[in-house]
Amino acid sequence: MSATIIDGKHLAKTIKEELKHEVDRIRENGGKIPHLGAVLVGENPASESYIRNKVRSCEQCGFKSTLIRKPANITQPQLLSIIQDLNQDDDVDGFIVQLPLPDHIDEETVTLAIDPKKDVDGFHPVNFGRMALGIPAYLPATPNGILEMLKRYNIETSGKHCVVVGRSNIVGKPISILLSGKGYPGNCTVTLTHSRTQNLKEETLRADIIIAAIGRPDFITADMIKEGAVIIDVGINRVEDVTAKRGYRLKGDVDYNALLAKASFITPVPGGVGPMTVASLLMNTLNASKKLIY
Ligand code: GUN
Repeated sequence: MSATIIDGKHLAKTIKEELKHEVDRIRENGGKIPHLGAVLVGENPASESYIRNKVRSCEQCGFKSTLIRKPANITQPQLLSIIQDLNQDDDVDGFIVQLPLPDHIDEETVTLAIDPKKDVDGFHPVNFGRMALGIPAYLPATPNGILEMLKRYNIETSGKHCVVVGRSNIVGKPISILLSGKGYPGNCTVTLTHSRTQNLKEETLRADIIIAAIGRPDFITADMIKEGAVIIDVGINRVEDVTAKRGYRLKGDVDYNALLAKASFITPVPGGVGPMTVASLLMNTLNASKKLIY
């Protein structure tokens, strides 16, 4: 049997169309148009590409967006002052500061400076804490995107054993908390594994659902999963490919071709979790404009 491929690209497009319909209705009724702010420091090519995508997606959905670009030599006080302005700008519903930041700027200080009510990335400890306690919160984009995929493909999670591979603050840790929480998607028994886990294969072989977020290409191989497992691949690894136009291609954390025959559901890379993250950010921004969380 071949796995059902979870088409994140199509799903993200559907969600964006739903958002556009809602914004069209808001506009007709003279309501508040969702407005996302974004701060981009320096010229990191990956960040440039992510931000372009976020701004374009805002346009597609009828959201307002404001992009503030600053050179890499901006001082931390100058950046904090921009954040204060965005915190106080009543028209801006939510904003993000694209990471990574230059080495002379402390990301933790920057994250803490963002008003949690406008933290549509869900990176502020107040939002992380609210999420952990099951209080309404802005959920970080990738975990939120994963939940949305599970929901829209009606994948059963209750009582299932979920093995998360990777313990990052923006994926592994929060998705472990969310999937072990009450409700749907949730009610999973979660094992959070990482680089120091012993006998990882023993753990993954017991998994009904695997969330691979470790950042190593083809790390999860077919012998590591059980028949019928649900595979969510969060990895976006650039691997050299001389035949590709850019000289590289994107690979996930799982050996996709080998797992296709064994899994029940699987996300491709590209076109899986990636496109869902921008859709999540827009959902958070709409919720911010409707004051649904705070
Ligand atoms: N850099 C990589 N992913 C993200 C994200 O989701 N938000 C922000 N602000 N920066 C990032």
